Amino acid sequence: DNPEIAILKDYHREAAELYHHILVNTQLGEEALEYLHHRGLTDELIAEFQIGYAPANKLLLPFFDEHQPDYQKLRKSGLFVERQDGQLSDRFRSRVMFPIRNAAGQVIAFSGRLLQKNDQQPKYLNSPETEIFNKRDVLFNFDKAKNSVRTEKSLVLFEGFMDVLAAYRAGVKNGVASMGTSLTEQQVYTLARVSKNVSLCYDGDEPGQKATKRALELLAATGRFNLSVISLPEKLDPDEYVGKYGAEKFVTHVHDSLESELAFYLRYYQQGRNLDNENDQLAYIEDVLKKIAQSNDAIERDLYLNRLAQRFQLDKLTLENQLKELRATGA
Ligand code: GTP
Ligand code: MN
Ligand code: MN
Ligand code: MN
Ligand code: MN
Repeated sequence: DNPEIAILKDYHREAAELYHHILVNTQLGEEALEYLHHRGLTDELIAEFQIGYAPANKLLLPFFDEHQPDYQKLRKSGLFVERQDGQLSDRFRSRVMFPIRNAAGQVIAFSGRLLQKNDQQPKYLNSPETEIFNKRDVLFNFDKAKNSVRTEKSLVLFEGFMDVLAAYRAGVKNGVASMGTSLTEQQVYTLARVSKNVSLCYDGDEPGQKATKRALELLAATGRFNLSVISLPEKLDPDEYVGKYGAEKFVTHVHDSLESELAFYLRYYQQGRNLDNENDQLAYIEDVLKKIAQSNDAIERDLYLNRLAQRFQLDKLTLENQLKELRATGA
């Protein structure tokens, strides 16, 4: 690393240590620690991920002030906001702090969560883009997950930090999450370096299902992955699922309820449609056929064509011709 980068990383390491100390050893962190315990995080996990707390009042600035910092670099670190008069002030206040690490495990940013949702502030606040943090590149827990991928032979994508942590606690340690935005090309490239098998385990609600479709499309376009979907019932997210049904059931679900891409689309395209209605039925069949046409596995195509034919009592030959046409035009 060049000296500038090294200093920015030093500041983040120190900030993570301080936030963690505040959470686990001081009265300022009591309420936040209680909150995390309540959400099922153990002290062990809190230590392992170096989760911390940014109190309501200034913490980082007075700390750095004592250590003859390079104020120019503090300004660039993203850990502070600059007031009108040019004075720095702690960016993160009254938030549970999740350190974000790069692939080498170095802290390069934070995401801070409010203890209670309110309307004035975002639930999660991320560090701004800096010389060491490009949100589009980073996957939360990638530094740890890449090691588990070797034994698990697969990687699981989640929506949120709390989902990665809930899964980790349950023993599913090969999970990562993107930074609250939809999956990016850069993240896909990072994934491709470590695992061919990728499962998507997004929230069971509608935004989660939409995000699943989008991520599947992005991942499938590379032609480099075996993809599957783990869908959760009752609009639950993975963290809520573990809370409601327990760790054991979650692990079983993750291993045994893998849906293929096509099985996901069969379900996905049903949403908001009434398949007893002829127009909806036709639109559904068309959507599904397009997806079947994109499969490069002849057996899989045949399997799903049969299902479609049976389900809607259609002539398989007609479907086959339609499929041939779709494949020829690449639609
Ligand atoms: P919890 O409420 O703590 O369980 O979080 P969650 O992960 O269930 O949140 P949700 O499903 O609403 O969102 C998924 C992910 O999107 C989060 O983990 C965050 O990374 C991100 N996110 C959610 N809300 C915000 C926000 O207000 N601002 C930003 N920048 N990201 C957010
Ligand atoms: Mn407690
Ligand atoms: Mn969600
Ligand atoms: Mn969620
Ligand atoms: Mn959640």
